[in-house]
Amino acid sequence: MVTELVPLRWWHLDEVARLEREVFTVDPWTPEMFWSELAQGPARHYIVALRRGRIVGYAGLALVEDEAYVQTVGVAPAARGQGLGGRLMLALLREARRAGARSCGLEVRSDNLAARALYSRLGFVDVGLRRGYYQPSGGDAYVMRVRPIDTPGYGARLAEFEAELNRRHGDPVGETAHAPGTAAEQAVEGEGAR
Ligand SMILES: CC(C)(COP(=O)(O)OP(=O)(O)OC[C@H]1O[C@@H](n2cnc3c(N)ncnc32)[C@H](O)[C@@H]1OP(=O)(O)O)[C@@H](O)C(=O)NCCC(=O)NCCS
Repeated sequence: MVTELVPLRWWHLDEVARLEREVFTVDPWTPEMFWSELAQGPARHYIVALRRGRIVGYAGLALVEDEAYVQTVGVAPAARGQGLGGRLMLALLREARRAGARSCGLEVRSDNLAARALYSRLGFVDVGLRRGYYQPSGGDAYVMRVRPIDTPGYGARLAEFEAELNRRHGDPVGETAHAPGTAAEQAVEGEGAR
């Protein structure tokens, strides 16, 4: 089934906020939190995954100078295990490289084994623990980070990760997502990162 990754726009927000409550049964973001993220303009990069016009996943990145942060990533329960979380992360990391970020960080609930496994495959490692980070539940978060991401070696790692996704799950993502990612990859490497 074709999945298109497109930039999140304000008209997606009602559907994203509904999906958020299915995806994060504990501590979901409110619609206002998504609106406030979108209001940050170029300091944020949010995407949604569409299948037959319905949103089945979303992810967002914050860019602060040469650091990127994964703000959120979620996939509808019925669409999990098909590589979509991996494709959303891949798109965020390629955008981080395109924007000139040298590292990418995130927080993840300490008991979230599926997400932690996915991040590890992309090179993220634990760099700290934040107790009581998630509110209102009070859940702990691991802080994970990958760096450097602005190198040809990391670009190759992402390409390998994508090839592995394609081998295991087919290549279901539409051109909207592929073309800019690939061009950005070439641009970063062409400019001779270390
Ligand atoms: C994390 C999440 C985005 C992954 O989405 P997805 O589309 O299922 O991701 P993928 O199909 O690319 O990969 C999921 C991986 O997790 C693995 N996984 C699933 N459940 C797991 C578990 N309990 N323990 C370890 N790994 C698990 C899958 O096997 C798969 O790994 P594989 O490719 O080696 O088989 C999705 O589970 C989700 O939306 N979870 C709720 C929201 C969330 O936790 N977001 C992250 C917040 S930091």
